Amino acid sequence: MATNVEQQQSSRHQEVGHKSLLQSDALYQYILETSVYPREPEAMKELRELTAKHPWNIMTTSADEGQFLNMLLKLINAKNTMEIGVYTGYSLLATALALPEDGKILAMDINRENYELGLPVIQKAGVAHKIEFKEGPALPVLDLMVEDAKNHGAYDFIFVDADKDNYLNYHKRLIELVKVGGLIGYDNTLWNGSVVAPPDAPLRKYVRYYRDFVLELNKALAADPRIEICMLPVGDGITLCRRVS
Ligand SMILES: C[S@@+](CC[C@H](N)C(=O)[O-])C[C@H]1O[C@@H](n2cnc3c(N)ncnc32)[C@H](O)[C@@H]1O
Repeated sequence: MATNVEQQQSSRHQEVGHKSLLQSDALYQYILETSVYPREPEAMKELRELTAKHPWNIMTTSADEGQFLNMLLKLINAKNTMEIGVYTGYSLLATALALPEDGKILAMDINRENYELGLPVIQKAGVAHKIEFKEGPALPVLDLMVEDAKNHGAYDFIFVDADKDNYLNYHKRLIELVKVGGLIGYDNTLWNGSVVAPPDAPLRKYVRYYRDFVLELNKALAADPRIEICMLPVGDGITLCRRVS
């Protein structure tokens, strides 16, 4: 049972390392308190509070992005989906709750342990049957899938929130797997705001390392005629790619 102090801490985005891209932290807190937390499903709240206590909590999808994904999936009537990068499963649960009873999520992560931390909450919410979890690097799985024509155009929605240095490799494969009219969402495309930092800016090591990959991805997506794109400043930046050919 979380104490009041723990509950307060997990609802203050600064405490879980959330990087609002809004100029004002107060404004972001306002969004969370007025329209996200009051409408957050109980299971997502429980998972968010559980994740806030984990040492790597900075990795979790933010509550406002979870709410966005949940609505987006309903808007596009998604049924067959994929997620690369699960961690404790906040975005996975947002997805699972949005899908119909016979909806499916192929979820991949190199770390099963973190997925299993959140799994009891997902089970309690009654949506675990929609999830097929595969432990291991996603790229070889995608390679196998691309070899089989029955997977081509099979996905309504794919969410990518994993190793940023592989996003372009994922894109080469995912574009075959998502249906025409379907969506791929690439997370962290504003990468802590570092995409506009001057070359000598004092960036944390991992932010600096992945920045060039994110910049390269953003350029490539903007130039890809097979997709329409929309980059949203939600969470750490999410680029939606709608396959058009
Ligand atoms: C930012 S976290 C994902 C957050 C998650 N979407 C959520 O809602 O909390 C990134 C995840 O990608 C996973 N990951 C890193 N490299 C990967 C790879 N090559 N294949 C699959 N997953 C990978 C990490 O283990 C980590 O759990």
